[in-house]
Amino acid sequence: MARHKGSSSNAVPFLKWAGGKSQLLQAFEIRFPLELKKGGITTYIEPFIGGGAVFFHIALNNRTQFNYLWDINEDLVITYNVIKNNCELLVNELKQLEGGYLKGDEGEREKRYYEIRDEFNKEKCGLNYTTFSSDWIHRASQLIFLNKTCFNGLYRVNSKGEFNVPFGRYKNPLICNETNLMRVSVTLSDTIVRLGDFSLCEMYADENTFVYFDPPYRPLNKSAFFASYAKDGFYERDQLRLAELFKKLDKKGAKVMLSNSDPKNEDPEDTFFDDLYEGYLIERVPAKRAINSNGSLRGAINELIVMNYLPPAVTPLNRQLTEL
Ligand SMILES: C[S@@+](CC[C@H](N)C(=O)[O-])C[C@H]1O[C@@H](n2cnc3c(N)ncnc32)[C@H](O)[C@@H]1O
Repeated sequence: MARHKGSSSNAVPFLKWAGGKSQLLQAFEIRFPLELKKGGITTYIEPFIGGGAVFFHIALNNRTQFNYLWDINEDLVITYNVIKNNCELLVNELKQLEGGYLKGDEGEREKRYYEIRDEFNKEKCGLNYTTFSSDWIHRASQLIFLNKTCFNGLYRVNSKGEFNVPFGRYKNPLICNETNLMRVSVTLSDTIVRLGDFSLCEMYADENTFVYFDPPYRPLNKSAFFASYAKDGFYERDQLRLAELFKKLDKKGAKVMLSNSDPKNEDPEDTFFDDLYEGYLIERVPAKRAINSNGSLRGAINELIVMNYLPPAVTPLNRQLTEL
């Protein structure tokens, strides 16, 4: 795999994604391992890629040679691969969707949105997600279209795996951002994006690897549960599996960073992550939780950042260094 074009590409996330980390990039940047900045990290692994805010940020600075990304969401993964391999065809299809949609009045747009959403849900069961076909291009264009025109621009499915976000009322949504899609394609040109469980990443990591984990949040409370990125949720047992993997990667000598919402926001006695990652550096940084069914729970909360290394700019404030 050749070194990618990095800073020439300037790509930013092409989807809005629940739990997206754009707002935390500054807080992360000063906590990335020094070796990443100095070129000592050759491999970057992100097993919960979602909208890819952290990946695009790292790629922009051209600091790694090999990038491996995973996600359990089939439609998301084929969309990354279509952008990587078939970007022009995707742009053509998306432009057609955009043109047809934007010329309608609000009522017509709403009707068109639900038609495409229905089509997207009906076509899911017949699609082969393992072997490329031109259906992938059609599906990727629909996913991007729905993301740009749905309420709040989020991705959410019900227990049957059906995309169920309602119509969003935007005056002039940019549905096909051709320039950015082309940049994303360049950035992905030597990146591997795979469908699967986060545990698959283990074999790709060595002592020259940086792994960033951004799993679905452990809900702050039951009504705040938002783990419907895919029909199978992400449960406490998965958080435990992930902590085991974190420790294995640590033993391999990889640098590992993980973020999650801080359960202490809701319950100061909740030491779930403090216990799970005891012995590692745990920092708490302010974040805004945008997605919450209960509007009163939106607003400032803390995000946890767990690291198995000492970052260059650790502040003694709210830091809990038990043993490194
Ligand atoms: C918090 S989001 C990641 C957001 C991303 N960091 C961003 O900036 O957009 C978590 C992602 O994990 C994915 N996911 C859920 N369970 C998974 C699993 N078992 N293995 C891999 N990915 C999973 C979801 O589909 C979702 O895209």
